Amino acid sequence: MSILVAGGAGYIGSHVCKMLNQKGFDIVVYDNLSHGYKEFAKWGEFIPGDISDEKLLENIFKYYNIEAVMHFCAYIEVGESVINPQKYYINNVSNTITLLKVMLKNNVNKFIFSSTAAVYGMPERIPIKEDDPKNPINPYGRSKWMVEQILEDYDKSYGLKSIRFRYFNAAGADEDAEIGEAHNPETHLIPLILDAALGIREDIKIFGTNYDTKDGTCIRDFIHVNDLADAHIKGLEYLLDGGETDYFNLGSGEGYSVREVIETVKRVTKKDFKVVETERRPGDPPYLIADSEKARSKLNWSPKYSLEEIIKTALKWHIKLRGKS
Ligand code: UFG
Repeated sequence: MSILVAGGAGYIGSHVCKMLNQKGFDIVVYDNLSHGYKEFAKWGEFIPGDISDEKLLENIFKYYNIEAVMHFCAYIEVGESVINPQKYYINNVSNTITLLKVMLKNNVNKFIFSSTAAVYGMPERIPIKEDDPKNPINPYGRSKWMVEQILEDYDKSYGLKSIRFRYFNAAGADEDAEIGEAHNPETHLIPLILDAALGIREDIKIFGTNYDTKDGTCIRDFIHVNDLADAHIKGLEYLLDGGETDYFNLGSGEGYSVREVIETVKRVTKKDFKVVETERRPGDPPYLIADSEKARSKLNWSPKYSLEEIIKTALKWHIKLRGKS
């Protein structure tokens, strides 16, 4: 029996594959390498392909004995989703429906889905609980929320059991620095600050210093990618044990401001660099902090990495990635 990991050559998918492999699962990694890297598909069998390719998926399901599917293939850039929503709805929604269609046809009914804190939009209260209102404010968030609703319908009508994980700010890297975050273009805060610390960028810009927060900058909940991976293993085991469809926030429950993250990078790297205060970035909620009590109690999950450890692991990987110390 194998686990099909769609998007297993990407940032979060590859960390999940490494952990699945350590736990003794057989894996088939399926990735079109549009945003993933062949070198990240180190564990299990790698098959290049796109989730829109129904025929190829059919063949994979026929050839391998697939027991469950984990789905990490998605476009994730909020700004791009506003400029080109079609790209997001076709890939994140329509192609996901194709993948589900092939699963149903082959009687595979266990599915783990990567969702996002962006389904909540501008949260009405902090920390955010799973049943708080879903008001996504961009096509990216809407595409994820659409799939979440589709999965509810597919359980009721077809008995497809799923776990949806709503990630907060995924960060950090593999402790051995074999894999890590390598987005192109990079828009995420921690890798950009590391670029400033390594002298690859001349500064880090703070997007907005007049939010109603303790120091005027946005507050985020950073969660280490291995803590996310651990939740995926627990979610998979839960479904394999006959668990019902469910959905969970995955965050540390701790909020750090953009300024605090910059200060932590300065402390960890022992480097000083220029910090430039600029305008707000449209669509940024002032606070995003998860209440992850449900994952803690139902999945027995508890995140282990502090912000400092997140930054230390990210730094080790980033030095390797940029080829510069
Ligand atoms: N930021 C800066 N300067 C930068 C980059 C980011 O100040 O150069 C700030 C942002 O404005 C934001 C914070 O750092 O306040 C974090 O930004 P990221 O881009 O790293 O992450 P987001 O919080 O925007 O993204 C997260 C998830 C997305 C999700 C989004 C929902 O990673 O998947 O929250 O708002 F869509």
